[in-house]
Amino acid sequence: MIELRGLGKRFGERVLFEGLDLDLVPGRTTVIMGRSGSGKSTLLRMINQLERHDAGVVRLSPIEIPAGLPHAEWSRRATALRRRTGMVFQGYQLFGHLNVLDNVTLAPRIVQRVPRAAAEQQARSLLELVGMAQAVTRFPARLSGGEAQRVAIARALATQPEVLLLDEPTSALDPGSTADVVRVIGDLKARGFTLAMVTHDPVLGHQLADELIELD
Ligand SMILES: Nc1ncnc2c1ncn2[C@@H]1O[C@H](COP(=O)(O)OP(=O)(O)OP(=O)(O)O)[C@@H](O)[C@H]1O
Ligand SMILES: [Mg+2]
Repeated sequence: MIELRGLGKRFGERVLFEGLDLDLVPGRTTVIMGRSGSGKSTLLRMINQLERHDAGVVRLSPIEIPAGLPHAEWSRRATALRRRTGMVFQGYQLFGHLNVLDNVTLAPRIVQRVPRAAAEQQARSLLELVGMAQAVTRFPARLSGGEAQRVAIARALATQPEVLLLDEPTSALDPGSTADVVRVIGDLKARGFTLAMVTHDPVLGHQLADELIELD
């Protein structure tokens, strides 16, 4: 599905990746581990092209993004690729001025032009899936970390992405909230979603991974 081939990335003088090959295989969970600063978030962000690579190619057939495209062409292809992926950011990044339901319906309504009623129906079933159906009218400031993270997962799924990218979904959570979020991710895995997850937690990593990569 998503293929990275010969990927290179540098920030100034610092070479973060060189010749990186990685496949995100449909229906499988790829876990990315490694110490702080090793490039885990950057790797996820290159997979969905929030960060550009300097060498190699990112493919999500039929989209192909080689390094060095002119900006307009890169932007067109990156947008097309991004519409087929969902991202759960390190630190949730919910829209603070929108309630839970509106957070989840925003992208389908604006980007995909799904009518409000249909978007809300879908959002309610996603919120059910993550155990947050009772919270549709609450605002992000009134959610615990674990609740916010589960809403962020529902929001990322709302555009029906082919692959879901999760950046340290449990790093800021207490053990109880972590268990809730891990249950949700385990459910997604059992339903056959394609997942790529960054984590610092070796127990969680080994529990969920079909493929485990460690950045050195
Ligand atoms: N836009 C940027 N400009 C310059 N350096 C950057 C940029 N983004 C990331 N870096 C550097 O690249 C390295 C990798 O950063 P990244 O955020 O990918 O690490 P990480 O593995 O996700 O770390 P953490 O576990 O702390 O989240 C770090 O040294 C970081 O300072
Ligand atoms: Mg990170």
